[in-house]
Amino acid sequence: MKPFLFLGLTILVLLALAGCSREADMGQAQLEQTGQTAASAADNIREEFTPQELTESIGAVPEEYFAPSGGPTYDAVLTALKAGYRHIDTAAAYFNEADVGRAVRDSGIPREEIFVTSKLWLQDYGYEAAKKGLDASLEKLGLDYVDLYLLHQPYGDVAGAWKALEEAKAEGKVRSVGVSNMTPKIWKEFVPQFKTLPAVNQVECNPFFQQRELRELLDKDNVKIEAYQPLGHGDSTLLSHPVITKLAEKYGKDAGQIILRFEVQSGLIVLPKSTNPTRIAGNLRIFDFELTGEEMSQIRALDTGKGHHDPEAPGVAEMLLANFRVHD
Ligand code: A2P
Repeated sequence: MKPFLFLGLTILVLLALAGCSREADMGQAQLEQTGQTAASAADNIREEFTPQELTESIGAVPEEYFAPSGGPTYDAVLTALKAGYRHIDTAAAYFNEADVGRAVRDSGIPREEIFVTSKLWLQDYGYEAAKKGLDASLEKLGLDYVDLYLLHQPYGDVAGAWKALEEAKAEGKVRSVGVSNMTPKIWKEFVPQFKTLPAVNQVECNPFFQQRELRELLDKDNVKIEAYQPLGHGDSTLLSHPVITKLAEKYGKDAGQIILRFEVQSGLIVLPKSTNPTRIAGNLRIFDFELTGEEMSQIRALDTGKGHHDPEAPGVAEMLLANFRVHD
């Protein structure tokens, strides 16, 4: 398992997406520079999900990240859907879209009540390739549309791939479009080339790496952050940190629930992963308590400003492309 490839199948809390329907408040300078419209981030997110439904969505992910068919994906997704999760996050590069689609269909839950996210892999960047990549995702998932489709990595012909996603949205193949792994620097390099703003940017984020600069930047445009590895990828230093364990004791919750509550209360969309049915169910029980302002500050103070994956590190794109081929 490569340290920067925490790409697991995830089922997300969509609580924060409720806020996406507000008009984006873009700075005038950026508007003039890009010609993007003030509502473009909001335009890019599916709005039919009610705050209540979004609140009831949270996720679980198999330990095996690149789960082969017959691995833990199908069971984990079905368990999560039965527990009340409604947002499933997968990707072409997780190699488990087929199992996700099968679990969605077998759940018996109407398709329109489930929010499915998938992602285009680097190998399929560029305008024409992206169109084919999306079609391949839909075919593997066995779905007519995805609710959110992301550009998984920010390298290569990102603008061409984005254009294909915007067109797919107009055609109804995707309901919302977004990006992933964009640092502030990478965001500023690519997003001004886009006609519409991404609805979300999915990045590594947890109490040890709170992405403050990125959040400040995206807040201006009402672009939501989706946190992958919200539990620090099960980091025992985080899960056993005295600030966290003390709060867990106070609220009668486990450490993971305290961390997820902190993140959701901070306005993040979180993607906790678990294959353990007890934790899958438990990670949903974070809406029956509230951290105080002082407790939020204590967790905010744990930020180190550093994560495991640095999207700006030299050679990352080449390494990703070389190691992960989603088709011949
Ligand atoms: P498991 O699958 O056995 O539940 P992240 O989402 O940050 O990548 O973290 C995922 C890891 O955290 C998995 O190893 C998962 O293990 C573990 N995990 C999930 N929920 C909890 C929780 N509530 N408390 C502690 N660990 C958890």
